[in-house]
Amino acid sequence: MRADNDAFVLQVSRLSKRYGTGCPSCYALTGPEADSNVCPRCGSIVACHDVGFDLEEGEILGIVGESGSGKSTLVRCLYFDEEATGGEAYLAAHGGGTVNLFAETAQRKRHVRNHLMGMVYQNPLLGIKPHFTAGGNVAEKLLTAEFYNYGAIRQRAATLLTRTEIPLGRMDDFPAHFSGGMQQRVQIAKALANNPPLLFLDEITTGLDLSVQARVLDLVKEIQRELGIAMLVVSHDLGVIRMLADRTAVMKNGRIVEIGLTDQIMEDPQHRYTQLLVHSML
Ligand SMILES: Nc1ncnc2c1ncn2[C@@H]1O[C@H](COP(=O)(O)OP(=O)(O)O)[C@@H](O)[C@H]1O
Ligand SMILES: [Mg+2]
Ligand SMILES: [Zn+2]
Repeated sequence: MRADNDAFVLQVSRLSKRYGTGCPSCYALTGPEADSNVCPRCGSIVACHDVGFDLEEGEILGIVGESGSGKSTLVRCLYFDEEATGGEAYLAAHGGGTVNLFAETAQRKRHVRNHLMGMVYQNPLLGIKPHFTAGGNVAEKLLTAEFYNYGAIRQRAATLLTRTEIPLGRMDDFPAHFSGGMQQRVQIAKALANNPPLLFLDEITTGLDLSVQARVLDLVKEIQRELGIAMLVVSHDLGVIRMLADRTAVMKNGRIVEIGLTDQIMEDPQHRYTQLLVHSML
């Protein structure tokens, strides 16, 4: 069993994200019971509310739920793509885990995002730049002092691309000439560039062919084993979550309705919505 004093990488508590002007009833009138994330009084969208969890060292936590349940909003808030409306997040690697990331200055957030986090988006174009080569994309993210000269940067980029199974002969090609699976592998190489303790992966295999999907998921699993990096893996597909995640949080209408060991959730789902999700997969 997990103990409260286990080493955590990321701690999130009471995270909320609301789109719209809001009213005092937004949170009470939305959620799984209301089966909606739209406030009937003011029309605001409660994309996430009261979301909390810990991510431990070396752990993969899955976030699963139907389209619109708030999964991407959650990771986008944690990666500072969006500003959270409320709540707190702590990284062990930043200020000893005592500083609420959401209260940090823009400059500090940028530092955290660049050095302590990696992100892999569903849409490769959000994570890689089309006018940079594969190697150039990885190099762009290499910010640490070790890589100060061209040769060292190129060497590190080559190592990362090789690790994500991009042939070195393709290093100087542009991402537009890559298959969908290869584009995702370039995104993964880039996300790993600064050796962050934490990686976010949002629907990274959605839309890929099944065989390509399986290879990308295998790669993620291998990298996790090798580097011991903690990961937050988001997918609407319980199959992906079952393959990767040690623990799983189930989201519905912006709330976590259930969180626990993935095996337990698959075998003995507690929440009615999770039961539907699991049974629809069988
Ligand atoms: N920029 C935005 N403005 C308004 N509503 C948004 C915005 N982004 C997401 N939403 C809404 O927030 C809810 C959660 O979306 P999202 O986090 O993308 O869900 P998921 O990733 O689980 O499919 C949805 O109702 C979506 O329409
Ligand atoms: Mg999404
Ligand atoms: Zn409202």
